[in-house]
Amino acid sequence: MVWENTQGDQLVAKNRHNIAKTQLVPYFNLVVKSARGSIVTDVEGKRYIDLLATDSAMNVGHNHPRVITAMKRQIDEFISYDTGYFTNPTTIRLGERLAKLAPNPGHNKVAFGTSGSDATEAMIKFARAYTHRQYIVSFEGAYHGTTYGALSMSACNVDMARGIGPMLPGIIHVPFPNTYHCRPGETEHETAQRAFADFKRPFAEFLPPEETAAVILEPIQGDAGIIVPPREYMEAVDRFCHRHGILIGVDEVNQGLGRTGKLWSYQHFGLHPDLIATAKSLASGLPLSAVIGSATIMDAPGTSAYCFTGGGNPVNAAAALATLDVLHDEHLIEKSAVDGEYAKEKFIQLAQKHPCIGDVRMLGLNGGIEIVKNRQTKERDSLTAAKIIYHAFQKGLIMAKLGGNVLRFQPPLTISRNLIDEALLILDQVIKDVEENQVELPDELRHDGW
Ligand SMILES: Cc1ncc(COP(=O)(O)O)c(C=O)c1O
Repeated sequence: MVWENTQGDQLVAKNRHNIAKTQLVPYFNLVVKSARGSIVTDVEGKRYIDLLATDSAMNVGHNHPRVITAMKRQIDEFISYDTGYFTNPTTIRLGERLAKLAPNPGHNKVAFGTSGSDATEAMIKFARAYTHRQYIVSFEGAYHGTTYGALSMSACNVDMARGIGPMLPGIIHVPFPNTYHCRPGETEHETAQRAFADFKRPFAEFLPPEETAAVILEPIQGDAGIIVPPREYMEAVDRFCHRHGILIGVDEVNQGLGRTGKLWSYQHFGLHPDLIATAKSLASGLPLSAVIGSATIMDAPGTSAYCFTGGGNPVNAAAALATLDVLHDEHLIEKSAVDGEYAKEKFIQLAQKHPCIGDVRMLGLNGGIEIVKNRQTKERDSLTAAKIIYHAFQKGLIMAKLGGNVLRFQPPLTISRNLIDEALLILDQVIKDVEENQVELPDELRHDGW
């Protein structure tokens, strides 16, 4: 980082002194002062266009007035009572609403937590308790969070696992199909077939299907780089699971709630999930998560196997109800689909000018822009990606990296076309500067990190 002893630099230094390294992913010395819609302002008054939306947790934009009003109203009533003991009208309304958002409305139940990690991990508990089976299948490249169960299913960055094993037993990872980094000349159909053969192999060699509780997956892998699998593959996995009584749990923490242009990302792929985990944007970034599934599955674990003092907190529940209202009333899911196509077209135009862009993957306002050394070899270029991100911050864009070399495009779904245009103009100049070797990357950012 270039340290100039600004107010932001001083605050970041203080933060690093006090906060454990494991909780920090350094990108830029940005200290947030305020945020509205798709604009973030730092402590020095510098304006940034937010293309990260606090990791897809701000689908309705920062500080949406309806979310703020709903929270204030609830705060005036009371802010917390353990909903396990004594519930309240706000949390009841949210439970009712969420239960209708999964397949088979009218037959579902909901369990509340406080983070995406606890929700994805809970799918292990619900699946094991219901099926009386122990094994869980997860995917290479997955990110499900950092509590032990969620971390045990994750497989996208070895740093997450280093020094803290052993992980939860009984979790088997299989490869996830990647239609960009496939074998040379392979068609999407061939990639799907090969990946499905990889998926089935453990079941023939060491993993009895009748002892497998669930397949848990991100229908679109987020942290691996917005990896969109072939529909054919997902349908084959879906059929296999249902034939063998294996539950399907989808992690919609990042990709859900309109991000991909549908309410849930699994709806792109003909999947029939038994469990859905959601968090992040559910309560506009406040600590609230939910698992939704059929009542018989959800009632399988014993009392307090998944239960939190703050789970379903009424202030967070009020924010979630308002967030769902905004998604609906402002047609943000449809907007995400339409504006995603618009942004995709713009990124493809950018790729025509800049050979370092190897692939543009976009479904809704949800993009992975893959940076490569060479379009033929598709060799990943993490250093160039890091320089682009760093310089983007300098020029007033908040952007992050995924999988080392993929630019992450996940603005609030409320972002205007004007701001998309402005952001893409800045990015064009940023990439040009990087290509012309005008960007010096601070040493501490020369790692393959996130
Ligand atoms: C797909 C996915 N699942 C789970 C999580 C974990 O959520 P949290 O950070 O709220 O625990 C994340 C967070 O980035 C995520 O992207």
